[in-house]
Amino acid sequence: MTRIDWSGRVVVVTGGGSGIGAGIVEEFRAAGAEVIAADISEDAAAAVAAATGAVPERVDVADAASVAALAASVLGRFGRIDVAVNNAGVGPAVPLADMTLDDWRWLLGIDLFGVIHGLNAFLPHLEANPDGGRFVITSSMSGYAPMSPLGAYAVAKAGVSALAEVLAEELAASGSKVGVTVLAPGPVQTRIGEPQRNRPAAGRGSFLSFAPDAPPEAFLHPREVGRILREAIEAGRQLVPTHPQLWPRVAQRHARIAEAFGESVGGSG
Ligand code: NAI
Repeated sequence: MTRIDWSGRVVVVTGGGSGIGAGIVEEFRAAGAEVIAADISEDAAAAVAAATGAVPERVDVADAASVAALAASVLGRFGRIDVAVNNAGVGPAVPLADMTLDDWRWLLGIDLFGVIHGLNAFLPHLEANPDGGRFVITSSMSGYAPMSPLGAYAVAKAGVSALAEVLAEELAASGSKVGVTVLAPGPVQTRIGEPQRNRPAAGRGSFLSFAPDAPPEAFLHPREVGRILREAIEAGRQLVPTHPQLWPRVAQRHARIAEAFGESVGGSG
């Protein structure tokens, strides 16, 4: 593993005010990086920044102009971006048939377009960094093994996982020094079970609160996820599951796809 000297490097984290994002902020601050904790909740960003020495920023990832303004602000302050962590997300648990169009627009605006806005706003600055950079996306197990009642969430997470794969391929083909890392967390102790807390009251749906279905000991602490991400970036890894033990869920899906193609997983064709 290549050790990276993080001092002087600049890491931007969306959704940095809570949960996994806050764990990532904490980890990279401890490693010596300059870190921007960007969140739609100014209070949450400010609290994490005060505790870690990060810089708080307000951003709404669903708003392209807001993400562009964040990138410009970071550039103005530090002159570079080394790692852009597109992590902000919401995870409502709701059967597909119960999703209103407003619900779809809200969810995809954050979980899918939030990453697309990040691509648009951050990639040129990562490309301009002479040391290269890293475009990071927080996907989910749902990006690799979709299941009810997280269908709409899985649509977004499968989308960003696909985006990561193709982006990595295209950047490599063009000889870019920018790499891609996609984090695929299993259960983590966060506030994901309160997905609508930042949604304007008028638009809120009657979603179930979602708590990942797993025994308490399966839940990682967000700081642990931060450490997994930092080490993965140092190792240049692209796909980073936090819970390798959940592979059977993905394998079952792959087996169904292989069967439809008249193959078995691992078959040579
Ligand atoms: P969390 O709810 O604790 O943190 C999410 C943060 O994103 C909050 O601070 C929230 O204010 C912010 N946010 C929400 N909408 C935003 C917007 N429009 N613009 C900017 N910030 C916004 O939840 P958690 O779990 O830390 O979620 C982070 C990421 O991890 C999400 O992408 C989620 O899908 C993913 N994830 C979480 C898992 C878990 O078990 N907690 C498992 C797999 C993936």
